[in-house]
Amino acid sequence: MNKNYNIAVIPGDGTGPEVVREGKKVLLAAASRFGFSIGFGEYDFGGDRYLRTGEILPDSAVEELKKYDSIFLGAIGHPGVRPGILEKGILLRLRFELDQYINLRPVKLYPGVDTPLKDKGPEHIDYVVIRENSGDVYTGSGGVTMKGTAHEIAIQNMVYSRMQVDRCLEYAFEYTRKRNRKKTLALCGKTNVLTYVFDLWERAFHEIGEAKYPDIKREYYHVDAISMWMIKNPEWFDVVVTSNMFGDIITDLGAITQGGMGVAAGGNINPEGVSMFEPIGGSAPKYTGLNVINPIAAISCGAMMLDHLGEGKAANAIENAIMDVTANKLKDMGAGRMGYSTSEVGDLVAERI
Ligand code: IPM
Ligand code: MN
Repeated sequence: MNKNYNIAVIPGDGTGPEVVREGKKVLLAAASRFGFSIGFGEYDFGGDRYLRTGEILPDSAVEELKKYDSIFLGAIGHPGVRPGILEKGILLRLRFELDQYINLRPVKLYPGVDTPLKDKGPEHIDYVVIRENSGDVYTGSGGVTMKGTAHEIAIQNMVYSRMQVDRCLEYAFEYTRKRNRKKTLALCGKTNVLTYVFDLWERAFHEIGEAKYPDIKREYYHVDAISMWMIKNPEWFDVVVTSNMFGDIITDLGAITQGGMGVAAGGNINPEGVSMFEPIGGSAPKYTGLNVINPIAAISCGAMMLDHLGEGKAANAIENAIMDVTANKLKDMGAGRMGYSTSEVGDLVAERI
């Protein structure tokens, strides 16, 4: 019997539904070509539902989502809702409650895509950032006292346990080994100032590397320095592992070097549980409903999801189809400048599978 995957779909806000529609189109094309099937369960969480009903994400939904093989998400963020409510209430809550402790963000320049980096091409920009996804300032540890007075104090703690660091590093070493390119894992931190947190990261990095991954070369960069080298010499990198906050920042930097938010894909991974795949780009309210947004990032998320589910061949086929389309069809990666509509780009990829 054919394998079937149950995927929860959260199209979300803004252009989320438009890019998710194309992602699903390509997933279904890959399923029929490679002999498996996909069932989608749709969830309308996001700004519109919140404004209509006051509901952000019911507890029952979180339990329901745990039963799926994966989650496919469009975008979260609504101009009518105060920043933080939906991001914390949906995106971050799911990351935490499903313990998706890895945020996998490939930085890969597809052929034909413009990069702002001078004299760099696809042969120079092809690495992966593994962003720790469960700790750091994202845990909400801290607080505010004397709010509204001249003495107001605001604290937001950078929190890491040895367990969080170890499991992230284990994943990163394994990933680097499996990727089998330069076999180099770079730790990005700030050991010269954050002498508690990154001392922990650095010790764990070398202990684990020495004991279990002697075949993987270890490098270290301060976060400020790596921001420079990612621009100047992106070809140095194979796999970079870093903390949650630094990973958030350097992956936007990485994303612009690979052509921007229309292209950058990511996965929130729980290696033992349910993972969630989402384009890094936001909800792009300005372009909502116009059928002009670039769906490549969402389509590429679909490939990451299939790869994660063990359908590596189908994932490769999607990736190759994307590269054929970016190399030979699209004029530009920006919304409204592709030379094709959102749905036409989906068709172009799907028909190449
Ligand atoms: C990301 C986003 C989120 C983050 C926001 C929307 C909470 O910037 O996925 O990178 O900070 O992780
Ligand atoms: Mn971000």
